[in-house]
Amino acid sequence: MKKSSLILIAAFTLIINACGDYNPGSHADSGLDQKVDSVLTMMTLEEKIGQLTLFTSDMDQTGAFLRPEYIEDIKAGTVGAIFNAYGSEYTRSLQEMAVNETRLGIPLLFGYDVIHGHRTIFPVPLAEASSWDMDMIRKSAEVAAREATSEGLHWTFAPMVDIARDPRWGRMVEGSGEDVFLSSRIAAERVRGFQGDDLKDLNTLAATAKHFVAYGAAKAGRDYHSVDMSDRKLREVYLPPFKAALDAGAVSVMTAFNDLNGIPATANEYLFKDILRDEWGFEGFVVTDYTAIMELLYHGVAKDEHHASKLALDAGIDMDMQDGFYQQTLADLVESGRVRESQIDESVKNILKVKFKLGLFDDPFRYSSVEREEAEIMKPENIGAARDMARRSIVLLKNENNVLPIDESVKTIAVIGPMADNRRDLIGSWSAAGDWTKSVTLLEGLKKKMPDVNFIHAKGADIEGESRSGFSEAVTAARQADMVILALGEAYWMSGEAASRSDISLPGVQEELAKEIHETGKPIAAVLMNGRPLTINWLDENIPAILETWFLGTTAGDAIADVLSGDYNPSGKLPVTFPRNVGQIPIHYDMKSTGRPFDANNKYTSKYLDVPNDPLYEFGHGLSYTTFDYGPLMLSSQTMQPSDSLRVRVTVRNTGEYEGEEVVQLYLHDKVASIARSVRELKGFQKIKLEPGESKEVEFIITNADLSFYRADMSYGSEPGKFMVFVGGSSSDTQSAEFVLED
Ligand code: NOJ
Repeated sequence: MKKSSLILIAAFTLIINACGDYNPGSHADSGLDQKVDSVLTMMTLEEKIGQLTLFTSDMDQTGAFLRPEYIEDIKAGTVGAIFNAYGSEYTRSLQEMAVNETRLGIPLLFGYDVIHGHRTIFPVPLAEASSWDMDMIRKSAEVAAREATSEGLHWTFAPMVDIARDPRWGRMVEGSGEDVFLSSRIAAERVRGFQGDDLKDLNTLAATAKHFVAYGAAKAGRDYHSVDMSDRKLREVYLPPFKAALDAGAVSVMTAFNDLNGIPATANEYLFKDILRDEWGFEGFVVTDYTAIMELLYHGVAKDEHHASKLALDAGIDMDMQDGFYQQTLADLVESGRVRESQIDESVKNILKVKFKLGLFDDPFRYSSVEREEAEIMKPENIGAARDMARRSIVLLKNENNVLPIDESVKTIAVIGPMADNRRDLIGSWSAAGDWTKSVTLLEGLKKKMPDVNFIHAKGADIEGESRSGFSEAVTAARQADMVILALGEAYWMSGEAASRSDISLPGVQEELAKEIHETGKPIAAVLMNGRPLTINWLDENIPAILETWFLGTTAGDAIADVLSGDYNPSGKLPVTFPRNVGQIPIHYDMKSTGRPFDANNKYTSKYLDVPNDPLYEFGHGLSYTTFDYGPLMLSSQTMQPSDSLRVRVTVRNTGEYEGEEVVQLYLHDKVASIARSVRELKGFQKIKLEPGESKEVEFIITNADLSFYRADMSYGSEPGKFMVFVGGSSSDTQSAEFVLED
């Protein structure tokens, strides 16, 4: 170690000690500001710019490898953060360079896309959202954080909180679906799961709310496409999940790739200065998405590298991911007076604060521990949690003639289809350091679960391609069996980033395979594995039972077997609408009321000539092996004062033969307002468990906040008048009551 570094580290220690304890969870920590300032005053401009620079390791392609030029940067203190580097030994070796070989010894921050698990892979986020189970969703993020931090990671690029209403957009799989209320609740739980109560805790990861903002509204569902929307829509739909994530404490925000009304997000002062900092008081740091500053050139808003960096910095973007534009240009920009050094100082402070909160200045190596890594990675408890999350994420779309659960009289089952014994695709996209070879296939899960059943497996067809050569083997298998499990879907790479599809039906000849198997007349249960809603009208019309399993992760096969066998009664509900065809998109349950509401007998009402208005499966839909009966809705009063609240009660009874869980959903509709309101909006839900014959009373409290919206003049609040409240097991359930909000 250089002598000067030693002196400076000693100086840090003095500074830190002099400042006493601080609360890492709190932004308003004067001790923290003092510590950050005392580091900042020692930094050269070059070192400051280094803190704004994030480069990738090539680990996922090459193993523990960092390009030589980035190693030089670490040693020179001109890079402050590295992503895609994990493993306690690897992160320790990089951290040693930063701490021991640079003038100031400022620790590196290690980031990674820990999206749905780190090594133990949990269901893809859209699947987890289908569970509507907030405790489990938080737990999933907690487990991911434990595993990731044990490998030296400090920071995850999650949760993705983009509302997605266009299933052509492949990244729908990474979020929580179409609904503002549900997505906001999940965003907050994921942040709490990753960050816990204390970022200094070794098991917690700094979270990133991404992608700010409206990325999910990419035109025509094409990834990276532009977005044009009203401020009303932005505030009603796309901003709330970010606000929820930040209110839950997320310390970083990532920019979106898209432009918003012509201004790329990464150069958008309105978004980052006016909304994020000024309106919301965000005190964490903003990181770009991958090479997004460079992309300002392609957006055509920057004429060269210097201009691009200036636009981003002026917009309030703190950290540059991967293109090195800040590193190459900011010093020139300061020297030529085009940006102020104080702007850079602000960004450095935002980043250093998080490094302090993580405890990196106390001990830069605290997260890189071989012992923790060995103890945490894929421990049985984590696998158990992943399996529990996975079975809770499954949605039973259809179950005619009680084809499911599999009857005890069934002795031979044909397990057919490209997903039947598929391992590669189960962990879905963005599967971090997950190892797909460790996941359990559906066939394996079934064989373990039902050792007395005879299973015949035939792939029948590939996911893609035109070959029908496997059909006859599959038909023969079906003929020999008492029933068929038909496992169909998408490859993992067909959803996620850069994975938009214009046709969202089952790829390849899978539907044809289903038709051939259907011809055998055997009872069939279809098991779908996919990253977005698919247009599956033929399956819906012809296959008696359909299970949507999305991509369930490491324990997929076990979890699906739990449900098929009846050991676990499915309780998932769709967090997103399934359209009948692509022409219905965008389709979501909370459409605005039109001036010509649908009337089947009146041509001149809002509808299509060739497809119904309603979707194939609505938001909130999901069946159980049991049935639930909803008693009448009871309101504590027919009127409500804005300062008061209203209680809505309903008794739900399990009228079937299985213990089961039901997600009781509450929706509101404002009958007359200064703007056209949605036909209904989710405002509450509770997941309850009932034994056969058992009843429970569920109570919701409605407050003025639930009735508030952006009024005609864009002020936020409620308006007096009549409201309708709907309670049921999906967004199309019709039991309703009315009340009046008084002046
Ligand atoms: C690009 C993706 O859009 C973003 O979500 C991700 O976090 C970064 N790449 C880093 O991998």
